[in-house]
Amino acid sequence: MDVQWFVMFFARVAAVAGSGRCMMRHRFRSSSSTLRLHLSQSGSSSGSNEVEYEYLDSGSFRRLERFGNVHVIRACPSATWTPGLPLDQGEWKDAKVRFEATGWQGLEHVPEDWRVHVHSNLVFSLLPSEQGQLGIFPEQLDNWNWIRSQGKRSSGKSIGNGSILNILNGFAYTGGSSIAALGMMMQEGDAAAAAVKVTHLDAAKASVSWAARNAIASGFEDASCRFLVDDCLTFLHREVKRGNKYDGLIFDPPAFGRGGGNKIWKLEKDLPTLVSLLPALLSSSPRFLLLSCHDVAWPSQKLEQLLREVNIPAGGVWEKGDLTLKSNRNGARNLPLGQFVRISWKPPIK
Ligand SMILES: C[S@@+](CC[C@H](N)C(=O)[O-])C[C@H]1O[C@@H](n2cnc3c(N)ncnc32)[C@H](O)[C@@H]1O
Repeated sequence: MDVQWFVMFFARVAAVAGSGRCMMRHRFRSSSSTLRLHLSQSGSSSGSNEVEYEYLDSGSFRRLERFGNVHVIRACPSATWTPGLPLDQGEWKDAKVRFEATGWQGLEHVPEDWRVHVHSNLVFSLLPSEQGQLGIFPEQLDNWNWIRSQGKRSSGKSIGNGSILNILNGFAYTGGSSIAALGMMMQEGDAAAAAVKVTHLDAAKASVSWAARNAIASGFEDASCRFLVDDCLTFLHREVKRGNKYDGLIFDPPAFGRGGGNKIWKLEKDLPTLVSLLPALLSSSPRFLLLSCHDVAWPSQKLEQLLREVNIPAGGVWEKGDLTLKSNRNGARNLPLGQFVRISWKPPIK
Protein backbone atom coordinates (compact mmCIF):
# COMPACT_ATOMS: atom_id res chain seq x y z
CA MET A 1 0.00 0.00 0.00
CA ASP A 2 1.58 3.26 -1.09
CA VAL A 3 0.12 5.55 1.55
CA GLN A 4 -0.29 4.86 5.16
CA TRP A 5 -3.99 4.52 5.77
CA PHE A 6 -4.86 5.70 9.15
CA VAL A 7 -7.46 3.50 10.69
CA MET A 8 -6.85 3.47 14.43
CA PHE A 9 -10.32 4.67 15.14
CA PHE A 10 -11.56 2.12 17.64
CA ALA A 11 -9.49 3.72 20.38
CA ARG A 12 -10.61 7.18 19.30
CA VAL A 13 -14.27 6.29 19.14
CA ALA A 14 -14.04 4.60 22.51
CA ALA A 15 -12.37 7.69 23.95
CA VAL A 16 -15.02 10.06 22.63
CA ALA A 17 -17.91 7.76 23.53
CA GLY A 18 -16.37 7.41 26.96
CA SER A 19 -16.83 11.14 27.49
CA GLY A 20 -20.55 10.41 27.71
CA ARG A 21 -21.37 13.08 25.13
CA CYS A 22 -22.60 10.86 22.38
CA MET A 23 -23.00 7.31 21.20
CA MET A 24 -21.03 6.37 18.11
CA ARG A 25 -21.65 3.89 15.40
CA HIS A 26 -18.90 3.30 12.88
CA ARG A 27 -18.06 0.94 10.14
CA PHE A 28 -15.23 0.40 7.70
CA ARG A 29 -15.74 -0.50 4.10
CA SER A 30 -12.92 -1.67 1.92
CA SER A 31 -12.63 -1.55 -1.83
CA SER A 32 -9.82 -2.90 -4.03
CA SER A 33 -6.94 -0.84 -2.64
CA THR A 34 -8.64 1.56 -0.31
CA LEU A 35 -10.23 1.68 3.06
CA ARG A 36 -12.82 4.31 3.66
CA LEU A 37 -13.96 5.35 7.08
CA HIS A 38 -17.64 6.03 7.50
CA LEU A 39 -18.31 8.23 10.48
CA SER A 40 -21.66 7.90 12.11
CA GLN A 41 -23.00 9.62 15.14
CA SER A 42 -26.37 9.36 16.74
CA GLY A 43 -27.62 12.74 17.87
CA SER A 44 -26.13 16.09 16.89
CA SER A 45 -22.91 17.58 18.26
CA SER A 46 -24.53 20.26 20.38
CA GLY A 47 -27.29 21.81 18.34
CA SER A 48 -25.67 25.13 19.22
CA ASN A 49 -25.53 27.86 16.60
CA GLU A 50 -23.45 30.14 18.78
CA VAL A 51 -19.94 30.83 17.49
CA GLU A 52 -17.83 29.97 20.48
CA TYR A 53 -14.62 31.47 19.13
CA GLU A 54 -13.88 35.18 19.19
CA TYR A 55 -10.75 37.09 18.26
CA LEU A 56 -10.54 40.14 20.55
CA ASP A 57 -7.29 42.11 20.14
CA SER A 58 -3.55 41.85 19.53
CA GLY A 59 -0.34 43.81 20.11
CA SER A 60 2.85 43.81 22.14
CA PHE A 61 3.65 40.43 20.49
CA ARG A 62 0.50 38.81 21.90
CA ARG A 63 -3.02 37.94 20.79
CA LEU A 64 -6.18 37.79 22.90
CA GLU A 65 -8.98 35.36 22.00
CA ARG A 66 -12.02 33.71 23.54
CA PHE A 67 -12.55 29.97 23.17
CA GLY A 68 -15.94 29.17 24.68
CA ASN A 69 -15.88 30.82 28.09
CA VAL A 70 -12.10 30.84 28.31
CA HIS A 71 -10.09 33.97 27.45
CA VAL A 72 -6.60 33.11 26.22
CA ILE A 73 -3.50 35.26 25.65
CA ARG A 74 -0.88 33.73 23.38
CA ALA A 75 2.51 34.84 22.11
CA CYS A 76 2.21 36.33 18.60
CA PRO A 77 5.56 37.54 17.20
CA SER A 78 3.93 39.29 14.22
CA ALA A 79 1.80 41.57 16.47
CA THR A 80 4.46 44.28 16.63
CA TRP A 81 1.97 47.10 17.28
CA THR A 82 0.49 48.49 20.52
CA PRO A 83 -2.73 46.68 21.51
CA GLY A 84 -5.93 48.54 20.69
CA LEU A 85 -7.49 47.76 24.09
CA PRO A 86 -5.79 48.56 27.43
CA LEU A 87 -3.60 45.67 28.62
CA ASP A 88 -4.25 46.45 32.28
CA GLN A 89 -8.06 46.42 32.05
CA GLY A 90 -11.03 44.36 30.88
CA GLU A 91 -10.54 41.20 28.87
CA TRP A 92 -6.74 41.49 28.56
CA LYS A 93 -6.45 41.73 32.36
CA ASP A 94 -9.07 39.07 33.10
CA ALA A 95 -7.62 36.39 30.80
CA LYS A 96 -6.50 33.55 33.05
CA VAL A 97 -4.92 31.27 30.46
CA ARG A 98 -1.66 32.38 28.84
CA PHE A 99 1.01 30.99 26.58
CA GLU A 100 4.34 32.82 26.83
CA ALA A 101 8.01 31.87 26.28
CA THR A 102 7.92 29.83 29.49
CA GLY A 103 4.96 27.73 28.33
CA TRP A 104 1.30 27.56 29.39
CA GLN A 105 -0.08 29.04 32.57
CA GLY A 106 -3.60 28.80 34.01
CA LEU A 107 -4.59 25.56 32.28
CA GLU A 108 -6.56 24.65 35.41
CA HIS A 109 -9.18 27.12 34.09
CA VAL A 110 -9.68 25.05 30.95
CA PRO A 111 -12.51 22.47 30.77
CA GLU A 112 -11.43 18.84 30.64
CA ASP A 113 -13.18 18.33 27.32
CA TRP A 114 -12.47 21.75 25.81
CA ARG A 115 -14.34 22.31 22.55
CA VAL A 116 -15.43 25.20 20.39
CA HIS A 117 -18.44 25.11 18.10
CA VAL A 118 -17.62 27.32 15.14
CA HIS A 119 -21.11 26.36 14.08
CA SER A 120 -23.23 23.34 14.84
CA ASN A 121 -21.47 21.20 12.22
CA LEU A 122 -17.92 22.45 12.74
CA VAL A 123 -16.63 21.54 16.16
CA PHE A 124 -13.01 21.61 17.32
CA SER A 125 -11.61 19.79 20.28
CA LEU A 126 -8.87 22.00 21.77
CA LEU A 127 -5.59 20.81 23.18
CA PRO A 128 -2.78 23.18 24.25
CA SER A 129 0.46 22.19 22.48
CA GLU A 130 4.04 22.93 23.48
CA GLN A 131 4.25 25.40 20.60
CA GLY A 132 1.24 27.38 21.85
CA GLN A 133 -1.23 25.97 19.30
CA LEU A 134 -4.71 24.88 20.36
CA GLY A 135 -5.76 22.90 17.27
CA ILE A 136 -7.61 25.52 15.26
CA PHE A 137 -6.52 28.14 12.70
CA PRO A 138 -9.49 30.51 13.08
CA GLU A 139 -8.24 32.84 10.36
CA GLN A 140 -9.62 30.19 7.96
CA LEU A 141 -13.21 30.75 9.15
CA ASP A 142 -14.28 32.67 6.06
CA ASN A 143 -12.71 30.02 3.82
CA TRP A 144 -14.53 27.27 5.72
CA ASN A 145 -17.84 29.05 5.08
CA TRP A 146 -16.85 29.46 1.44
CA ILE A 147 -16.02 25.74 1.11
CA ARG A 148 -19.37 24.77 2.64
CA SER A 149 -21.18 27.08 0.25
CA GLN A 150 -19.64 25.27 -2.74
CA GLY A 151 -22.12 22.44 -2.15
CA LYS A 152 -25.08 24.62 -2.97
CA ARG A 153 -26.58 24.24 -6.36
CA SER A 154 -26.69 27.51 -8.20
CA SER A 155 -29.26 26.50 -10.76
CA GLY A 156 -32.52 24.63 -10.75
CA LYS A 157 -30.79 21.58 -12.22
CA SER A 158 -28.91 18.77 -10.62
CA ILE A 159 -25.26 19.36 -9.75
CA GLY A 160 -21.87 17.81 -10.24
CA ASN A 161 -20.23 15.71 -12.92
CA GLY A 162 -21.65 12.59 -11.37
CA SER A 163 -23.37 11.99 -8.11
CA ILE A 164 -20.37 12.57 -5.83
CA LEU A 165 -17.84 15.38 -5.52
CA ASN A 166 -14.29 14.26 -4.77
CA ILE A 167 -12.42 16.69 -2.50
CA LEU A 168 -8.76 16.63 -1.43
CA ASN A 169 -7.44 18.61 1.55
CA GLY A 170 -3.61 18.50 1.79
CA PHE A 171 -1.77 19.91 4.85
CA ALA A 172 -5.09 19.31 6.54
CA TYR A 173 -4.12 19.62 10.26
CA THR A 174 -7.12 19.11 12.59
CA GLY A 175 -9.64 19.09 9.79
CA GLY A 176 -11.30 22.53 9.61
CA SER A 177 -11.41 22.52 5.81
CA SER A 178 -12.14 18.78 5.54
CA ILE A 179 -15.13 19.11 7.87
CA ALA A 180 -16.29 22.21 5.99
CA ALA A 181 -16.13 20.10 2.81
CA LEU A 182 -18.15 17.34 4.49
CA GLY A 183 -20.62 20.13 5.34
CA MET A 184 -21.13 20.78 1.61
CA MET A 185 -23.65 17.96 1.71
CA MET A 186 -25.59 19.57 4.53
CA GLN A 187 -26.64 22.92 3.07
CA GLU A 188 -29.76 23.96 4.87
CA GLY A 189 -32.87 24.11 2.76
CA ASP A 190 -31.08 22.72 -0.28
CA ALA A 191 -32.17 19.19 -0.91
CA ALA A 192 -29.80 19.00 -3.88
CA ALA A 193 -26.67 19.86 -1.91
CA ALA A 194 -23.64 17.90 -3.00
CA ALA A 195 -22.71 14.39 -2.00
CA VAL A 196 -19.02 14.50 -1.14
CA LYS A 197 -16.08 12.20 -0.64
CA VAL A 198 -13.24 13.90 1.27
CA THR A 199 -9.58 12.92 1.41
CA HIS A 200 -7.93 14.44 4.47
CA LEU A 201 -4.13 14.29 4.30
CA ASP A 202 -1.45 15.44 6.72
CA ALA A 203 2.07 14.24 7.52
CA ALA A 204 1.43 14.34 11.28
CA LYS A 205 -0.35 11.24 12.58
CA ALA A 206 -1.54 13.06 15.72
CA SER A 207 -3.22 15.77 13.63
CA VAL A 208 -4.97 13.20 11.45
CA SER A 209 -6.30 11.39 14.52
CA TRP A 210 -7.42 14.72 15.97
CA ALA A 211 -9.20 15.61 12.71
CA ALA A 212 -11.12 12.33 12.81
CA ARG A 213 -12.22 13.16 16.37
CA ASN A 214 -13.32 16.62 15.25
CA ALA A 215 -15.29 15.16 12.35
CA ILE A 216 -17.22 12.96 14.77
CA ALA A 217 -17.75 15.83 17.22
CA SER A 218 -19.08 17.85 14.27
CA GLY A 219 -21.96 15.46 13.97
CA PHE A 220 -21.62 13.82 10.59
CA GLU A 221 -23.66 10.79 9.81
CA ASP A 222 -22.40 8.46 7.12
CA ALA A 223 -19.98 11.09 5.90
CA SER A 224 -17.40 9.57 3.62
CA CYS A 225 -13.91 10.67 4.59
CA ARG A 226 -10.58 8.91 4.30
CA PHE A 227 -7.80 10.04 6.61
CA LEU A 228 -4.26 9.74 5.30
CA VAL A 229 -0.88 10.22 6.91
CA ASP A 230 1.57 11.03 4.13
CA ASP A 231 3.89 13.62 2.65
CA CYS A 232 1.70 15.89 0.55
CA LEU A 233 3.93 16.29 -2.52
CA THR A 234 4.70 12.55 -2.63
CA PHE A 235 0.98 11.78 -2.53
CA LEU A 236 0.19 14.35 -5.24
CA HIS A 237 2.86 12.94 -7.58
CA ARG A 238 1.34 9.48 -7.09
CA GLU A 239 -2.19 10.71 -7.69
CA VAL A 240 -1.10 12.34 -10.96
CA LYS A 241 0.57 9.08 -12.06
CA ARG A 242 -2.58 7.12 -11.16
CA GLY A 243 -4.74 9.60 -13.02
CA ASN A 244 -6.90 10.30 -9.98
CA LYS A 245 -8.86 13.55 -10.17
CA TYR A 246 -10.58 15.85 -7.70
CA ASP A 247 -13.48 18.29 -8.02
CA GLY A 248 -12.22 20.37 -5.10
CA LEU A 249 -8.65 21.01 -3.95
CA ILE A 250 -7.56 22.68 -0.70
CA PHE A 251 -3.95 23.42 0.27
CA ASP A 252 -2.76 25.47 3.25
CA PRO A 253 0.95 24.62 3.42
CA PRO A 254 3.28 25.83 6.16
CA ALA A 255 6.53 27.73 5.45
CA PHE A 256 8.42 24.65 6.60
CA GLY A 257 7.23 21.15 7.44
CA ARG A 258 8.32 17.57 7.81
CA GLY A 259 6.64 15.03 5.57
CA GLY A 260 7.95 11.89 7.28
CA GLY A 261 11.19 10.04 6.53
CA ASN A 262 13.65 12.50 5.09
CA LYS A 263 10.97 14.53 3.30
CA ILE A 264 11.09 18.22 4.06
CA TRP A 265 8.54 20.76 2.79
CA LYS A 266 9.87 24.26 2.08
CA LEU A 267 7.26 26.69 0.81
CA GLU A 268 9.64 28.81 -1.24
CA LYS A 269 11.08 25.80 -3.09
CA ASP A 270 8.10 23.42 -3.16
CA LEU A 271 5.04 25.60 -3.71
CA PRO A 272 5.76 26.08 -7.46
CA THR A 273 6.01 22.27 -7.83
CA LEU A 274 2.72 21.76 -6.00
CA VAL A 275 0.97 24.37 -8.14
CA SER A 276 2.35 22.80 -11.34
CA LEU A 277 0.54 19.54 -10.42
CA LEU A 278 -2.87 21.14 -9.90
CA PRO A 279 -4.15 21.08 -13.51
CA ALA A 280 -3.54 17.33 -13.69
CA LEU A 281 -5.38 16.80 -10.39
CA LEU A 282 -8.50 18.78 -11.26
CA SER A 283 -11.45 16.91 -12.75
CA SER A 284 -12.94 17.90 -16.09
CA SER A 285 -15.69 19.83 -14.30
CA PRO A 286 -13.99 21.23 -11.20
CA ARG A 287 -15.91 22.99 -8.45
CA PHE A 288 -13.25 24.82 -6.44
CA LEU A 289 -9.60 25.38 -5.62
CA LEU A 290 -8.31 27.06 -2.46
CA LEU A 291 -4.65 27.87 -1.90
CA SER A 292 -3.53 29.73 1.21
CA CYS A 293 -0.41 30.22 3.26
CA HIS A 294 0.81 32.06 6.31
CA ASP A 295 4.12 33.39 4.98
CA VAL A 296 4.46 37.15 4.31
CA ALA A 297 6.83 36.29 1.45
CA TRP A 298 3.76 35.05 -0.44
CA PRO A 299 1.22 37.89 -0.72
CA SER A 300 -2.02 36.92 -2.47
CA GLN A 301 -0.88 38.65 -5.71
CA LYS A 302 2.15 36.37 -5.86
CA LEU A 303 0.01 33.29 -5.14
CA GLU A 304 -2.34 34.35 -7.92
CA GLN A 305 0.53 34.92 -10.35
CA LEU A 306 1.84 31.42 -9.65
CA LEU A 307 -1.59 29.92 -10.30
CA ARG A 308 -2.06 31.96 -13.49
CA GLU A 309 1.19 30.49 -14.86
CA VAL A 310 -0.25 26.98 -14.93
CA ASN A 311 -3.13 25.65 -16.95
CA ILE A 312 -6.01 26.18 -14.51
CA PRO A 313 -9.36 25.49 -16.24
CA ALA A 314 -11.06 28.58 -17.63
CA GLY A 315 -14.40 29.95 -16.47
CA GLY A 316 -13.70 30.11 -12.74
CA VAL A 317 -14.38 33.05 -10.47
CA TRP A 318 -11.07 34.12 -8.89
CA GLU A 319 -10.89 35.79 -5.48
CA LYS A 320 -7.88 36.70 -3.39
CA GLY A 321 -7.32 38.30 -0.02
CA ASP A 322 -5.83 38.14 3.44
CA LEU A 323 -6.50 35.74 6.28
CA THR A 324 -7.14 38.45 8.84
CA LEU A 325 -8.72 38.05 12.26
CA LYS A 326 -11.05 40.98 12.90
CA SER A 327 -12.31 42.11 16.26
CA ASN A 328 -15.68 43.68 16.92
CA ARG A 329 -14.39 45.45 20.02
CA ASN A 330 -14.15 49.23 19.57
CA GLY A 331 -10.56 50.29 18.95
CA ALA A 332 -9.15 46.74 18.85
CA ARG A 333 -6.51 45.81 16.26
CA ASN A 334 -7.01 43.39 13.42
CA LEU A 335 -4.48 40.58 13.04
CA PRO A 336 -3.29 39.59 9.53
CA LEU A 337 -2.16 35.94 9.53
CA GLY A 338 -1.89 34.88 5.92
CA GLN A 339 -3.08 35.11 2.35
CA PHE A 340 -5.31 33.12 0.00
CA VAL A 341 -6.48 32.70 -3.56
CA ARG A 342 -9.66 30.78 -4.26
CA ILE A 343 -11.39 29.85 -7.49
CA SER A 344 -14.91 28.50 -7.91
CA TRP A 345 -16.55 27.07 -10.98
CA LYS A 346 -20.29 26.81 -11.55
CA PRO A 347 -21.71 23.30 -11.44
CA PRO A 348 -22.42 21.90 -14.89
CA ILE A 349 -26.09 21.96 -15.87
CA LYS A 350 -27.45 18.56 -16.80
C1 LIG B 1 -0.86 25.62 8.46
S1 LIG B 1 -1.24 24.01 9.05
C2 LIG B 1 -2.74 23.77 8.17
C3 LIG B 1 -3.95 24.33 8.89
C4 LIG B 1 -5.25 23.91 8.27
N1 LIG B 1 -5.37 24.44 6.94
C5 LIG B 1 -6.46 24.36 9.07
O1 LIG B 1 -7.09 25.32 8.66
O2 LIG B 1 -6.78 23.76 10.09
C6 LIG B 1 -0.02 23.06 8.19
C7 LIG B 1 -0.14 21.53 8.32
O3 LIG B 1 0.75 20.96 7.35
C8 LIG B 1 1.25 19.73 7.85
N2 LIG B 1 2.45 19.40 7.09
C9 LIG B 1 3.69 19.94 7.18
N3 LIG B 1 4.52 19.41 6.26
C10 LIG B 1 3.79 18.51 5.57
C11 LIG B 1 4.07 17.64 4.47
N4 LIG B 1 5.27 17.59 3.91
N5 LIG B 1 3.08 16.88 3.97
C12 LIG B 1 1.84 16.91 4.53
N6 LIG B 1 1.51 17.70 5.57
C13 LIG B 1 2.47 18.49 6.10
C14 LIG B 1 1.46 20.01 9.32
O4 LIG B 1 1.47 18.78 10.05
C15 LIG B 1 0.26 20.91 9.64
O5 LIG B 1 -0.80 20.14 10.15
